[in-house]
Amino acid sequence: MFPIIKAEKLAENIYLMDVKAPRVARACQPGEFVIVKMDEKGERIPLTICDYDREEGTVTIVFQIVGASTYRMADLKAGDSFQDFVGPLGNPSEFVKEDIEELKKKKYLFVAGGVGTAPVYPQVKWLHEHGIDADVIIGAKNKDLIILEDKMEKVAGNLYVTTDDGSNGRKGMVTEVVKDLVQDQGKKYDVCVAIGPMIMMKFTCLLTKELGIPTIVSMNPIMVDGTGMCGACRLTVGDKVKFACVDGPEFDGHLIDFDEAMKRQQMYKTEEGRAYLRAKEGATHHGGCGHCGGDE
Ligand code: NAD
Ligand code: FES
Repeated sequence: MFPIIKAEKLAENIYLMDVKAPRVARACQPGEFVIVKMDEKGERIPLTICDYDREEGTVTIVFQIVGASTYRMADLKAGDSFQDFVGPLGNPSEFVKEDIEELKKKKYLFVAGGVGTAPVYPQVKWLHEHGIDADVIIGAKNKDLIILEDKMEKVAGNLYVTTDDGSNGRKGMVTEVVKDLVQDQGKKYDVCVAIGPMIMMKFTCLLTKELGIPTIVSMNPIMVDGTGMCGACRLTVGDKVKFACVDGPEFDGHLIDFDEAMKRQQMYKTEEGRAYLRAKEGATHHGGCGHCGGDE
């Protein structure tokens, strides 16, 4: 069992938990994810790691209520436990493997949308701890839905907050801040990392392509079982078929077919849609998620 050390509500429907999982905490890197399962009946939920403390042996996860399992999970308190807490899974962010001196020559811009702020945090923190201060944009619908602003402020070079309704920071979407920084203020970035809702990542990528800034995105939102078994997270990157949970979760955003990925994500929500994908994609859709009946 994996005890919950701290459980906190960050915003409406958004929760943070510190979980004692020393082996995961020792090995994990920014960009990787864990799969959590509350109990025997619980769904397997893949969540990108938000933070870790190697000495305390804890891993921080942040999740949003999106269905029955996350609704039940939100009821857990400090002292309760997860039955399973498996990880670290997936591949670390690319910069983790780069030469630090080369990395120091690059200017990073992080674009965090809503709950996507959680997986952005360990990346910005890792860079800060290695002497690299990145610029960070956090966007949310309104002031009550901004999460981790204080923590991010401590590790970011410059932090820009924007809300759709203007209730905190400037008014508008994250893409408007990117335009402002690059086109109006003349800032130069070598790499952009955009993590948030699919639609945000799509439009950020369209913009950064125009601006000539290579961009990495995290395709966690299309994962279901997170183990390479269900086929739900299949996506097209350039001319290649990839699986977010095995080959990612991070990919070159300029090569992703977002429209296809978003269409598949919608289809996965209905039984009819899952049956269609199973018939169409055959061998790459083998039903390990337990949602679609597999290819029986
Ligand atoms: P949201 O819908 O409130 O959007 C957050 C911000 O994204 C907005 O404030 C806006 O600035 C920007 N945005 C939204 N649509 C945009 C558009 N068309 N063009 C430009 N910018 C746009 O975010 P939320 O409700 O917190 O998001 C929840 C989603 O985040 C879920 O779908 C979840 O799957 C996803 N998520 C993704 C990751 C990841 O790894 N990519 C991690 C956690 C959550
Ligand atoms: Fe990747 Fe199921 S989430 S195959």
